[in-house]
Amino acid sequence: MTRASDSDRDTRPMDPVDLAAAYLQQNKAEPPQVGVVLGSGLGAWAAQLEQAEPLPYTSIPHMPTPSVAGHSGRLWRGRRGPVRVACLEGRVHAYEGHPVERVVFGARLLATLGCRAVLLTNAAGGIRSDLTPGSLMLITDHLNLTGKNPLVGWSSRGGHPPFIDLTRAYDAELAEAARAASRNLGQELAEGVYAGLLGPSYETPAEIRMLRTLGADAVGMSTVLETIALREKGVRVGAVSCITNVAAGLAAGALSHDEVQETAAQARSRFSALLDAWVVRAAALG
Ligand code: HPA
Repeated sequence: MTRASDSDRDTRPMDPVDLAAAYLQQNKAEPPQVGVVLGSGLGAWAAQLEQAEPLPYTSIPHMPTPSVAGHSGRLWRGRRGPVRVACLEGRVHAYEGHPVERVVFGARLLATLGCRAVLLTNAAGGIRSDLTPGSLMLITDHLNLTGKNPLVGWSSRGGHPPFIDLTRAYDAELAEAARAASRNLGQELAEGVYAGLLGPSYETPAEIRMLRTLGADAVGMSTVLETIALREKGVRVGAVSCITNVAAGLAAGALSHDEVQETAAQARSRFSALLDAWVVRAAALG
């Protein structure tokens, strides 16, 4: 019989994401199928889940809590029709000063809880001329311009090799499901490339011209790090931006977080209808 020697034994502390998941799994509820992350001003969808009780992030061990207006910080586990959903109402951002592993904590938690697909949502500034406030844009690819990557230090705990393929970071079948859901609803769904920047200041007009040259259609301060962390876990990723403003310098006037939240609120019913239908189609992909 072989016995692990002291030197073989894994003495590293448990991953805080696993501890948070173990806490949430105490009631042995069936695992969620689809995860949803709700961005700035888009949190209202969570309260429409059926059989759901919100759990403040503060009650979940190790879970980081958002400090920004429009990000409540509650986990909802419930149903949308037949589909078991885990939904993060609010996220934390790198610009709040969190290290990158805290930024992706929620996304990794959804994966650890069992979600096979995660739908990420955000508010974004429109760079392409047709992306006016209120438009919904399916993210087909991204530019990670945060200067960070959640896979740095990957070997710290049983991770896969960090050289993961991001050729199709955003799942083609989930994208098709979003298109079909929008068509069915008679709603427009634009598509484009999302540039994720660190923030928290908005961009200068010169930076927006640079981003356009680089191939960005919309710009925001989230999502890209979560996408990378989820792909490392093999989770399908779908993402949609609610365009809340025209990007800096492309229209008269200054940008403000209030405007971002107000426009997101105005798009609420179309956004919710899309998510409702998308969640159901996402679960069907298995
Ligand atoms: N820039 C960056 N992030 C954003 C914007 C923007 O114009 N709008 C909403 N989030």
